[in-house]
This record gives sequence, C-alpha cells and structure tokens, in this order.
Amino acid sequence: MFNSLQGRSAVVTGGSKGIGRGIAETFARAGVNVVVTGRNQDDIDSAVADLGGLAGTVTGVAADVASPEDCRRVVATATERNGGLDILCANAGIFPSGRIEELTPEDIEQVIGVNFKGTVYMVQAALDALTASGRGRVVITSSITGPITGFPGWSHYGASKAAQLGFLRTAAIELAPKKITVNAVLPGNVITEGLIEMGQTYMDQMAASVPAGKLGEVADIGNAALFFATDEAAYITGQSLVVDGGQILPESPEALADL
Ligand SMILES: NC(=O)c1ccc[n+]([C@@H]2O[C@H](COP(=O)([O-])OP(=O)(O)OC[C@H]3O[C@@H](n4cnc5c(N)ncnc54)[C@H](OP(=O)(O)O)[C@@H]3O)[C@@H](O)[C@H]2O)c1
Repeated sequence: MFNSLQGRSAVVTGGSKGIGRGIAETFARAGVNVVVTGRNQDDIDSAVADLGGLAGTVTGVAADVASPEDCRRVVATATERNGGLDILCANAGIFPSGRIEELTPEDIEQVIGVNFKGTVYMVQAALDALTASGRGRVVITSSITGPITGFPGWSHYGASKAAQLGFLRTAAIELAPKKITVNAVLPGNVITEGLIEMGQTYMDQMAASVPAGKLGEVADIGNAALFFATDEAAYITGQSLVVDGGQILPESPEALADL
C-alpha cells in the first residue's frame, strides 16, 4: 500500500533511548538510514550496536539540541553520511518534575531550552537539507501533557510540549511551499527509560487510567511517526496524532470502572 522509504535519510534526536530509539528502529526496519543523537555517548553506542543489521543503517552522533551549533553539526553529519536528509524526528526531550512554587528560573529555562528551543533549532538547522530533499518531513514528539491534559509537577513541561504545537502550525504554513510537512505525535504514557525512572507505582496508576489497559510501547510511536514520513502522507501537514490507547478519553475514573 505504501511506497517504500528504502534509502531515505533520517535524523532522530534523542534516538539513543526510549521513544526516539523506538522511532529509529521502526525507520531502520523500513530501510531508512538513521542518525540517532543524544548527549551520552555510551547510550548512543549501545543503541547503534543493538540496531545493527536492519534494512537501513543506524549510526550516532553526540549532540545537545539546546545548542544551535550542535544541531547544525548533526544535520551536516547525516547529510554527509547518508547523502542528504529527508526526515527530521525532533524527539529529544526531558521531563523533570517540580511544583509551580518550587520551580526556579533555571528549571524553566532548562525544560523550555531542550523541549521547545531544541525543536526549533533542529528544524532551523535541517531546513536547507529538507528543502533539497523535495519531500522533507518533520515529525515532532510532543505529548498529551500540555496540549490536552495536565499533571501536577509538569506545568513547565506541559507548556514546552504545547509550545511545540504552536510552532508546528506556523512552521507547516511557512514550509509548505518547500514541500516539507510538519506534524506531531502526542504520546500518552509509553514505557521508556525515562518513564521507568518515575517508579512502578506511577506506571501502574497510569496503566489503570488507559482504556486499552496497558502503557504504550515505543513501536506504537514509531509506527505513527513512520506514517507521517511516507509519501502517502504528503498532503497532511500541521496536524497532531494522539497515540495513547484512549488515555485522554475518560471523563472520570468511573468511565473505566465496568470495563
Ligand atoms: N515516555 C513517555 O511516556 C512520553 C510521553 C509523552 C511524550 N514523551 C516525549 O517523548 C520524547 C522522548 O521521551 P522518552 O520517554 O523516550 O525519554 P528518555 O527515555 O529519557 O529518552 C530521552 C532521549 O532524549 C535525549 N536527550 C535528552 N536531553 C537532550 C538534549 N539536551 N540534547 C539531545 N538529546 C537529549 C536523551 O539522551 P541524553 O540523555 O544522552 O541526552 C535520550 O536519548 C520526549 O520529547 C518526551 O517529552 C514521552
């Protein structure tokens, strides 16, 4: 049904772990040559080792998305290694928790700097290469938290995830003449290294609030991102797709009581 993505070139920021690594695996299975990033070289090396032998290659480069210079270096590396850049998955993100009364200016700056500014810097860095592709794709990993829901401790995080969508809508308009689409995946709670750090109690509570009865897996997000990257999705831009097993749907816990 779908044209092959074999031989396309992608960057997945935050592809060394969690959702990004899942996106990288899904793309590499589809024959896409992927460059994954993160700040920690050991995690990059282990992702690259684990994702070897798929239809597409997976290589890595250490870089901080909060640095515009690093973002330009990532794009230059991907372009050189894989002959151009067709797909940018702006996925790198952090979710430290802090109640409003505790948040310092540094806490706020850090979350906005990585999650929001990092997304913008990566898109800026990738613009020329995605334009040259003639079928450029930007897929942003946002969240249900912020754009749709709230959760105590994540006011700054939720704002950063909603900011990504505000950026996306104008970016989709500005980049449409360059044949670049800009879309977002909004995950619910997905089992990743980052989520596991929140503890088993948190994970059990979250799973109980999902109509599907379980937390998401990284491949669930990878498949949605892959769809946005296809030729067949060329006429879809400025949109967000919630991938959450129905987590945002219940009006109250009673909605799930008799399932
Ligand atoms: N897991 C969930 O339930 C969930 C739900 C909704 C949305 N999300 C979103 O999904 C994305 C990935 O989350 P995850 O759960 O997969 O997190 P994770 O397991 O903690 O992985 C985060 C990835 O981002 C990288 N990263 C963090 N800060 C970075 C920076 N400044 N520069 C470059 N890379 C950086 C990390 O590598 P280094 O630490 O080595 O830099 C790692 O590769 C985030 O945008 C998050 O907001 C996650």
